[in-house]
Amino acid sequence: MNIFEALRESHDRQRTYADALVKTSGDTPERVEAYKQLKSELQAHETAEERHFYIPLMAFDSGVDLSRHAISEHHEMDEMMEELDETEMSSPAWLVAAKKLSEKVHHHLKEEEQKFFQMAGKLLDDKQKESLAGQYEKEYKAQLS
Ligand SMILES: [Fe+2]
Ligand SMILES: [Fe+2]
Repeated sequence: MNIFEALRESHDRQRTYADALVKTSGDTPERVEAYKQLKSELQAHETAEERHFYIPLMAFDSGVDLSRHAISEHHEMDEMMEELDETEMSSPAWLVAAKKLSEKVHHHLKEEEQKFFQMAGKLLDDKQKESLAGQYEKEYKAQLS
């Protein structure tokens, strides 16, 4: 497995969880569970991806801008989750904020897969792509537990 395949596994989960979240309603166990699932997936993925994908890419001059951009979007998603944490789950505002987060997740993943992965593919060699996958997986699992 290479780093791109490893990252995509979480991306597919994030899409599924984000889509499920916006279909929930009110202060229900389904919504609590769907939000918990998306939040822990996002947090584990962001940290592991920053440590074992974006930081290594920062070593290249042409990897700096894309890494900064992606990490700042991770921060934006974290802030959106903070907003959700502070909003009453039964209020209409919660769903508005959840939809905003879901759209951001979809936008971020699309940009990573269609733009940043292509750029990173040219910077990293095959050995790095493979070893980063292992490091990422290990960190991702540690973050989730
Ligand atoms: Fe990602
Ligand atoms: Fe990301």
